[in-house]
Amino acid sequence: MVITKDPDSGWINVGTYRASVAGKNRLTLWIIDHKHGKQIARKYWQAKRACPVAIVLGCEPATWAAAPSASKAGVSEYDYAGALRGEPVEVIPAPLSGLPVPATSEIVIEGEMPSPEEDSEMEGPFGEWPGYYTHRGKECVVRVKNILHRNDPILLGNPPLLPVTERYGIPLFAARIWDHLEQSGISDIQGIWCHCHTLMVVVSLKQRYAGHAMKALTTVANFNTGASMYRYYVAVDDDIDPLDLKQVIWAMCTRVDPGESIEVMNSWTSDLDPRLRPEKRDKGDFTMSRMLIDACKPFAWRDRFPLANKFSAEMRKATWEKWMAELGRK
Ligand SMILES: Cc1cc2nc3c(=O)[nH]c(=O)nc-3n(C[C@H](O)[C@H](O)[C@H](O)COP(=O)(O)O)c2cc1C
Repeated sequence: MVITKDPDSGWINVGTYRASVAGKNRLTLWIIDHKHGKQIARKYWQAKRACPVAIVLGCEPATWAAAPSASKAGVSEYDYAGALRGEPVEVIPAPLSGLPVPATSEIVIEGEMPSPEEDSEMEGPFGEWPGYYTHRGKECVVRVKNILHRNDPILLGNPPLLPVTERYGIPLFAARIWDHLEQSGISDIQGIWCHCHTLMVVVSLKQRYAGHAMKALTTVANFNTGASMYRYYVAVDDDIDPLDLKQVIWAMCTRVDPGESIEVMNSWTSDLDPRLRPEKRDKGDFTMSRMLIDACKPFAWRDRFPLANKFSAEMRKATWEKWMAELGRK
């Protein structure tokens, strides 16, 4: 977790960015240009100052989970972590910078990040979350000034190895999407899940009007989060559990007419995107298409859509409970 402070408002931002050792007292830090961490750093650089940073390696999981969640500008991820935990995160001021760091941190590195014009270093490639070694470039440097650590600190290893699954636990991003849909006036959302580490987002909804599902998909696809690399957005009816990929694929295979139910839009992508053509990458053209798949029964004739030959969730639950009770008696 990398902590920075907005010099104008005092807002404390927490983000997760990759760092690597670049020499004695020297780290590289790759913060993508649109991230809040970079926006804050630019303010210091414009004032001809280096940006103070505190880097936390190891803290309790809810705070770490909140760090990469891209709270709104001006809202600290510490506050979001507090909401997840049900109590505030206890922080202490780091001795040199005064930046608040979790009191239970394992290791804290304090330093200063000068502008890339003043100092930068080649970094990468790095084994990244989509499952490939990606990104190499001249990136920012942190000049390390201070290191704090607990006795025998624990550095939890979670290298980004295959297979690409929900390595980071519950995809909190699903909750952010749900909020965004409701705030945008898209009603009747029943569930949302992100698969393959958010590369595929599935929205389950109770259709109320023609175009409801596609409207939900375009709204999700335009949601601006810190991350930029997404591929598939799928809308399913409320009888499909968005978490269960088997059910989702069944809906995609039986309720989609590819000529009618799919939209492809061009959007931005990340430098980590393995499918970005080398010529585009060389030109700095980080754009890629995304697929919006309406895997709901067509609204206009949903009542004539064949009945699914499967038990309802209630029937399955009742059967399960009956047999569990039966087993319990024996
Ligand atoms: C394990 C992990 C590593 C990440 N590495 C980077 C990174 O190297 N650079 C980056 O810009 N974002 C990275 N991210 C994504 C950011 O943490 C995420 O977009 C976050 O919302 C950025 O916060 P900010 O917008 O407040 O700066 C990473 C996320 C995770 C979970």
